[in-house]
Amino acid sequence: MKVAVLAGGLSAEREVSLRSGRRVSQALRDKGVEVFEVDIDADLLPELRKLNPDVVLPLVHGQIGEDGSLREVLDVAGYKTLGSASAAARIAFEKPIANQIAAAAGVFVPKSIVLPQEAFKSLGAADLLESAISSIGLPMVVKPSHGGSALGASVVQTKSELPGAMVTAFSYGAVVLMQPFITGTEIAVCVLEDKSGIKTLPIVEIVPDHQLYDYDCRYTAGMTEFFVPARISPELTYAANEIAIKMHKALGLKDISRTDLIIDAAGNIWFLEVNINPGQTETSLFPQAIAAAGLDLGDVFLNLLTNLDQ
Ligand SMILES: Nc1ncnc2c1ncn2[C@@H]1O[C@H](COP(=O)(O)OP(=O)(O)OP(=O)(O)O)[C@@H](O)[C@H]1O
Ligand SMILES: [Mg+2]
Repeated sequence: MKVAVLAGGLSAEREVSLRSGRRVSQALRDKGVEVFEVDIDADLLPELRKLNPDVVLPLVHGQIGEDGSLREVLDVAGYKTLGSASAAARIAFEKPIANQIAAAAGVFVPKSIVLPQEAFKSLGAADLLESAISSIGLPMVVKPSHGGSALGASVVQTKSELPGAMVTAFSYGAVVLMQPFITGTEIAVCVLEDKSGIKTLPIVEIVPDHQLYDYDCRYTAGMTEFFVPARISPELTYAANEIAIKMHKALGLKDISRTDLIIDAAGNIWFLEVNINPGQTETSLFPQAIAAAGLDLGDVFLNLLTNLDQ
């Protein structure tokens, strides 16, 4: 089997994606698979035509890679591709939309205010910041409505920090999401789907040095402590697994996903987001969950790639 692993691109998560690409490519090569690593740019289609892969494995994070665009291009060009279809990706990528679907499915979603940058210019929404604080409370999290690796996300403790946090979030996207800061145990539930069905991997508990599981904590070894399986009760484990499977299905995702959740002191499980293309770097959550399940990264991807049903 000839596999084209797509990574890189021009998003803020380029480096992360290249690391994910290298890691999975090596794991597949260890299984004897012929792998070509392709850094995506304007030559993508000519390059793929030259390589003529049997299957394409996109590991591109950020906008183009996760909002369904890359997948749409690959579909139109006729490539057999691993992962969620573009229509599902588009919905999962936009946090306010995914939140709406989660809430409709009965999952707890933190109260959210969604403000496009345009509203500040056209509607004088700057006046609203005080009301937003009364509505959401402090501390709050301000983050772009889409994106990844917590880029542009910050915790606001005091009123004076809010404008700066908005500017930071707007530098990563045109729409900002404000939510109460949920104090609790952050976990990630990875889902694998193949012909035998949908299953969850051991839950990863994340204990970052910083208040948020931010970029530094994600990609600097030693800045985050992980516990796999998470140190939570069997009841919470069951409930969190159910939420991840429910969201995978409700969003119409395929093959692989990772749902990020926070469990508060009362045992409520709050939905943060679902990733259709979770990181696969040395410090990423997905490979840790695979290892904890006693599985091998190369075997997992090989199984998914050989069983694509399109
Ligand atoms: N409402 C919240 N309360 C507490 N912490 C939060 C909240 N929202 C986000 N966080 C923190 O910020 C991090 C990034 O948030 P989120 O997962 O929503 O965005 P992301 O940038 O898309 O992440 P990823 O790289 O996992 O795709 C989370 O891992 C968590 O630590
Ligand atoms: Mg996340």
